[in-house]
Amino acid sequence: MKIAVLYGGVSAEREVSLSSGKQIMNALEAKGHEVIGVDFHPDRLEEIIQLNADIVFIGLHGKYGEDGKLQSLLDMLKIPYVGSGVLASALAMDKARSKQFFKNAGIRTAKEVVLEKKLYREDKLDVPFGFPLVVKPNHEGSTIGLTIAKNKDEMLKGIASALLHDHTVMVEEFVSGKEVTVAVMGEKGSVNALPVVEIVPKNEYYDYESKYAEGGSVHYVPARLDEKTTSLLQKQAVLAHEVLGCEVYSRVDFIIPSDGSEPVILEVNTLPGMTPTSLFPDAAKEVGLSYPDMIEKLIQLSLQ
Ligand code: DAL
Ligand code: MG
Repeated sequence: MKIAVLYGGVSAEREVSLSSGKQIMNALEAKGHEVIGVDFHPDRLEEIIQLNADIVFIGLHGKYGEDGKLQSLLDMLKIPYVGSGVLASALAMDKARSKQFFKNAGIRTAKEVVLEKKLYREDKLDVPFGFPLVVKPNHEGSTIGLTIAKNKDEMLKGIASALLHDHTVMVEEFVSGKEVTVAVMGEKGSVNALPVVEIVPKNEYYDYESKYAEGGSVHYVPARLDEKTTSLLQKQAVLAHEVLGCEVYSRVDFIIPSDGSEPVILEVNTLPGMTPTSLFPDAAKEVGLSYPDMIEKLIQLSLQ
């Protein structure tokens, strides 16, 4: 097959995507496909059309890759691509809006306050929960622009810094506990959850360094959880994927609170990281899918 792999891109997660893209291209080449890598920029769309590829593997993360805009252009050009369509991509990229869908589906979320840059006034800020709390750009990934604030001063600094990344910022209750993630993949209407992955970061939190530095965190697959919690997480991950209308694959992040209460969903990632330290490939490996098999499977599922 002739496969165009888009990587790099223009988002704050460019470095992550350079790594995901490289791994994806190596895997497809190893499988004997004709692979054309494109460091994506919207100006290069003309070039992508000329490639006449059988499918586009979107190895991008974040803005103009994961947020539905590229998917919309590819739809209009009738170029097949791997993964979720326009609406699910855009929704999943919007942390605050996707939380409304999770709540409606009965999945527990952390309390949040959403701030719009245009309307934001420090003196009018009313946060009805205590410290620590999390401040994050609403449409960002890989914990970029995220602050865990232990007091008001840190919160205000965190908001100012998150507003540099995004026009919408979410202040969220901090849930102390175990970070876990569930990879979801499969045909439309019958997707499956892969084994739960438990993350133990070397740093205090699962921050950018813990995510991408070699040895930055330890992944336990399957997670060290009882059967009941595992099956609840897997059920909720599939539900979260479906309520957003995701297709083919996604990775759903949760925190299991240390007080033993029900898991809290953080978000759905429609183009999860595929780097050497990423979580989705570890979950796939646990069910016998090597990295190249997994990438090929995602292509097969997308062409169905
Ligand atoms: N946003 C990064 C790439 C992830 O979720 O894996
Ligand atoms: Mg994310």
